[in-house]
Amino acid sequence: MTDARSAAWDTYAKSKPPRRRTNARGESTWFNWTQHPDHGPGAEVLALEPGDGVLDLGCGSGGNLAHLAALGMRAVGVDLSAAQLAKARERWADVEGMELHQGDALGFMAASVTRYDAVYSVFGAAYFTDPRLTLPAVHGCLVPGGVFAMSQHPPVEGCYGCQASYIPRGPDEDPAIVKRWDYTPRTWVGLFTEYGFENVTATVLEAPAHGRRRIGTQLIRGARAS
Ligand SMILES: C[S@@+](CC[C@H](N)C(=O)[O-])C[C@H]1O[C@@H](n2cnc3c(N)ncnc32)[C@H](O)[C@@H]1O
Repeated sequence: MTDARSAAWDTYAKSKPPRRRTNARGESTWFNWTQHPDHGPGAEVLALEPGDGVLDLGCGSGGNLAHLAALGMRAVGVDLSAAQLAKARERWADVEGMELHQGDALGFMAASVTRYDAVYSVFGAAYFTDPRLTLPAVHGCLVPGGVFAMSQHPPVEGCYGCQASYIPRGPDEDPAIVKRWDYTPRTWVGLFTEYGFENVTATVLEAPAHGRRRIGTQLIRGARAS
């Protein structure tokens, strides 16, 4: 697959350093909703039990998915980028229970006959796809009561709806451009509710107090209404 979006994300994959071998607690797999190391909640957000099925939309190089597989979940990931998936297959070759697919998240969900106990997206496909398309598709892929959670940057004040993201390609080339969708927590709660999710929360996790990176993380979570 070589459309402009997958080529853009292949470029991103090449510039992104690999996940550390271990986190601050010495663990070789862990779940991170944010882009700050050792920060924020973990897999408990998804309310899963061993044996449950979970789908990662835009799994990238697979660090979060590998953690869920290591916890005993049936962990399925979909990503547009062959380069990202190649990194995932190499890094997590020894992890059982992990299934990776290349493709667009919406197309994957439309073709899926599986119903998952949870679906999630960490700065992934749900950030880079119109939520009016993603939310009904996720709703259709979840068991009643199943959790959908997604993380992304909080919006810049006044910049709402479809925005452009620029992925650097080097000093002599134009950046690759992908679209993302930014909303306030209040708007996200309204969207999730409109598309059949309940107990919806949207919170902004502040960046860690130490360090120079100040941008936090917006985490939106809801459960499929029965
Ligand atoms: C910023 S990366 C995050 C990757 C991973 N979730 C993580 O936390 O490291 C965004 C990922 O979403 C994938 N992606 C973007 N749009 C997608 C779509 N429509 N379908 C599937 N994957 C998509 C990209 O290929 C990329 O791997």
